[in-house]
Amino acid sequence: MRQSLADDPGYVFDNDRAHNEEQHRCLTGAYDAMTFQRLAETGVTAGWHCLEIGCGGGSVAQWLAERVAPTGRVLATELNPRHVPARPGLVVEAHDVVTDPLPEAAFDLVVARLVLQHLPERLAVLGKLVRALKPGGRLQIEEFDTAYEPPLLTPDEESARLYETFLATKYAVMRAGGGDPQWGRRVPAAMRAAGLVDIDPRPRVELRTAGSPGLGLQLNHTYHLEDRLIAAGMTRPQLDRVRALMRDPSFCAVSSVIYSVQGRRPQADVAERPVRPRREGPR
Ligand SMILES: C[S@@+](CC[C@H](N)C(=O)[O-])C[C@H]1O[C@@H](n2cnc3c(N)ncnc32)[C@H](O)[C@@H]1O
Repeated sequence: MRQSLADDPGYVFDNDRAHNEEQHRCLTGAYDAMTFQRLAETGVTAGWHCLEIGCGGGSVAQWLAERVAPTGRVLATELNPRHVPARPGLVVEAHDVVTDPLPEAAFDLVVARLVLQHLPERLAVLGKLVRALKPGGRLQIEEFDTAYEPPLLTPDEESARLYETFLATKYAVMRAGGGDPQWGRRVPAAMRAAGLVDIDPRPRVELRTAGSPGLGLQLNHTYHLEDRLIAAGMTRPQLDRVRALMRDPSFCAVSSVIYSVQGRRPQADVAERPVRPRREGPR
């Protein structure tokens, strides 16, 4: 039986609403530079086969398609891929990464940014992504850890509390859908447990100020999740006030940490263990 919006399981930001374009614009502005720099570190180049799941507006898949051209290809998947512009070398597919199969041992590079933390089945999906890698292939996962993101400058104490209430309510909504807002910190260990090696986690924080894409994303969430935030206890006047606060040029807060984590599938699935030196001398 359906309970309330706040208890409704599943991805809380559906991808078929007017607010999605703004969400994709903010994600691109806030994170593409970091994501592209990390992807470049893998050496991705002409001829590689890449997969991005939950590709949203498609900016990461587009960047990859340019890098692997003319001989490589990129498969970009999404629940509803209508936002992704076509280009040579890029195949876009409607796909649910939880329930639909993926090709195995097929990709040199697999990317998932801000997808798994929303999915209750994130560990099973991680296993699927690992199996999609060719031996030696790289996985890059980027996720938030929202445990620490305090307001730093607000007009008054009440505004600071209101901002914290908005964030806490948003994460309650996410958890009710099976999401884990702190999954970012768990990604390195989960990747190792899934059989990857050379785990390389990089945390990043920034300031959220009026007009910045990071704060724009929070503002967008107040609209995108409006019904769910209200079902979870926020009032419309509170939402109006927190929106005004996030448009106030004097407002400043710390962002959550975003972890960019890379790992590599071993050449053979028998783990690449360090060889123990043989004991010399008499036994
Ligand atoms: C927060 S957005 C991130 C979009 C994009 N990866 C980015 O960082 O710009 C999460 C995306 O995951 C997609 N998504 C959620 N559940 C999914 C599923 N089960 N299978 C495929 N995509 C999914 C959503 O449609 C949405 O576009």
